[in-house]
Amino acid sequence: MDTLYLNPATDEGALDRAARLLRKGEVVGMPTETVYGLAANALDAAAVKKIFDAKGRPQDNPLIVHFAQIEQLPTLCAHIPPMLPALARAFWPGPLTLIVPKAACIPSEVSCSLPTVGLRLPSHPIARALIEKAGVPLAAPSANRSGKPSTTTAQHVLHDLAGRIAAVVEGGESEIGLESTVLSLVGDQPRLLRPGGITREQLQSVIGPVILDRALFESIDDTMQVSAPGMKYRHYAPDAPLTVVQGPPHATAAYIAAHVRTGDGVLCFEEYRTRFAHCTVHSLGGQEDVAAQAHRLFDCLRAFDAEGVSAIWAQCPCAQGLGLAIFNRIGKAAGFRTIVLE
Ligand code: TXA
Ligand code: MG
Repeated sequence: MDTLYLNPATDEGALDRAARLLRKGEVVGMPTETVYGLAANALDAAAVKKIFDAKGRPQDNPLIVHFAQIEQLPTLCAHIPPMLPALARAFWPGPLTLIVPKAACIPSEVSCSLPTVGLRLPSHPIARALIEKAGVPLAAPSANRSGKPSTTTAQHVLHDLAGRIAAVVEGGESEIGLESTVLSLVGDQPRLLRPGGITREQLQSVIGPVILDRALFESIDDTMQVSAPGMKYRHYAPDAPLTVVQGPPHATAAYIAAHVRTGDGVLCFEEYRTRFAHCTVHSLGGQEDVAAQAHRLFDCLRAFDAEGVSAIWAQCPCAQGLGLAIFNRIGKAAGFRTIVLE
C-alpha cells in the first residue's frame, strides 16, 4: 500500500481526502497536541482491527476514542461518572483521557472486551477538524510500531508505518510530546494510570486525591492484574539498552561521565552537554525546563536508533508535575533499569 502524505497547509483538499479514507474504513496518521495518533472509525470493528495490524499491537491493549464535541459524550459512555463534568470543564479539549463505562456502540475491538472505554477530546485544530469531517469518533493509539517510542512528527510516522497505512496528515511537531494523562473514573477513587500533559497536581486541584497506580514505577509481568493493559508491555524502547541515573543533576552527570564508554549515547540536560562532547549526545533541554524535556524526549530516543549507539545513559527530572510523566517514560524505555544516587 502507498501511504499518502497529506499536508493541509499546502493542499486545501487534504483533510477532505483524509476524512474520506477514514469513512471508507482506512487507517490514517493524525497529529494531536500530545503525539501523533493512528486513527480509524471507532464504530467500525473491521477498521479498528487494521490499527492493530499496522502497529503490531497486542490484541489485549485497548484504544482511546477521540471525539470533537462535548455534546457527543452521552453517546459514548453508558453513564457519566460524577467527577467527569468538572474535569471536562477544566481540561477538555486537551491532553486528558478519562476511563469510563462504555456505551454499547463501542465495539469490543476498541475496548478489548473491557466494560470501559478511554475518551479524549483533543485540542489540536487539525485533529478536531478531521474528526468533524469524518463525522465519526476516531479510535487512535500512538502512531508508532508497537514497543517503539511514540511519534511526534509526520516523518516519524512515515518512518515506522509507511506502506502499512493509507495516509498521514501533516500537523507539525506535537506541542507536548508525551501522550495524554490517563485517569480511571470507574473505581472507588480516581486512579492515575498514565501520567501525561495534565499533571496529578492539576487533577487534584479539581477533584481532590488521585491515587497513583503502582505500574507507574515498576515493571509488570504477564501474570499480574493491571488496570491499563498497555502498562505491562515494554514501551518507548530504543534499540540499545538504556540506563536511567536518578538524583541531583551534578551527581548523575558525574556518574554517567565515569561509566560511559566509546560508542555509547548520552541523554542529558542542556547544562551538561559539553561534558559529553566525546559521545553521541542529545540534550533534553534545560534541567528546570520540563516542558522542553517532554517535547524532545521521543525525538531524542529515536535519534539514538538512527545513530546505532551501543548503550544509552540518561539523566531524568524528579517525579513531580510534568516531571512524573517524563520520569515514567524514561523509566519504561529503560525497563525500569535505574540507578539512584543520593
Ligand atoms: O495522547 C494520547 O493519549 C495518544 C494520542 C494519539 O491521543 N494516544 C495514545 O494511545 O497514547 P495509546 O494506545 O498509545 O495508549 C493508550 C493507553 C494504553 O496504556 C491503554 O492500555 C490505556 O491507555 N487504555 C485505553 N483504554 C483503556 C481502558 N478502557 N482501560 C484502561 N486503560 C485503557
Ligand atoms: Mg502508545
